[in-house]
Amino acid sequence: MSNFILSINDVSKSYETSGSEKLTVLNSIDLNISAGDLVGLTAPSGAGKSTLLHICGLLDTCDTGTINFLDQDMQKASNMARTLIRRREIGFVYQFHHLLPEFSALENVVLPQLINGKKPQQASDRAFELLRLVDLENRASHRPFQLSGGEQQRVAFCRAVANEPKLLLADEPTGNLDEKTSETVFGALLSLIELSGMAALIATHNENLAKKMKRRVKLKSGKLF
Ligand SMILES: Nc1ncnc2c1ncn2[C@@H]1O[C@H](COP(=O)(O)OP(=O)(O)OP(=O)(O)O)[C@@H](O)[C@H]1O
Ligand SMILES: [Mg+2]
Repeated sequence: MSNFILSINDVSKSYETSGSEKLTVLNSIDLNISAGDLVGLTAPSGAGKSTLLHICGLLDTCDTGTINFLDQDMQKASNMARTLIRRREIGFVYQFHHLLPEFSALENVVLPQLINGKKPQQASDRAFELLRLVDLENRASHRPFQLSGGEQQRVAFCRAVANEPKLLLADEPTGNLDEKTSETVFGALLSLIELSGMAALIATHNENLAKKMKRRVKLKSGKLF
């Protein structure tokens, strides 16, 4: 047994482009993430941050290499096993919140918990508690269009951590916000991570935000440094 929540080894990923050319985005990458780890992933646009996060989050597959989640080989796992790990153990935050427009902030945080089998009252209590932690308890009944960009993103953080995942993956979670809002909202994300004790891998091209991480990795020319 390793102590890693996520361990990826020798992972490569290429995309087909027009003609016979192949675009290699990840070239034999290794990355280990342990409990409590807070890892910043920086790279220029187009270098492969989203590709790497999607592979780590089991939203996409790699061409070669191994992906172990809690010592379970994800390539050999059934689709159902992958889905359950994604639902229970991994939280994902996108650059744009992707909240469900027809539901309130509270309901957006409640829903993933119901899907995961939690009782409605417990799910609602937890959703309120999370919204309170990011100073949004008085916005719980607002629908996404009634929230500012930073507020929407804070709701998305609550949704991502609602099922107490072991790993949080965030793909430029504040990339869509102005510098000042970005700082505040990022602070909310870091406190949620700290309170829950989960591990996190956060892609950002904001160097000031990256400096707040315990550990940093850089993606360049398909390699991780
Ligand atoms: N489905 C696809 N088919 C072909 N090429 C793709 C596909 N998805 C991504 N790419 C290419 O792979 C490279 C890496 O893309 P990726 O989205 O991972 O970059 P990124 O580092 O997240 O960039 P950004 O900072 O702009 O979000 C880019 O050059 C992109 O054009
Ligand atoms: Mg990206």
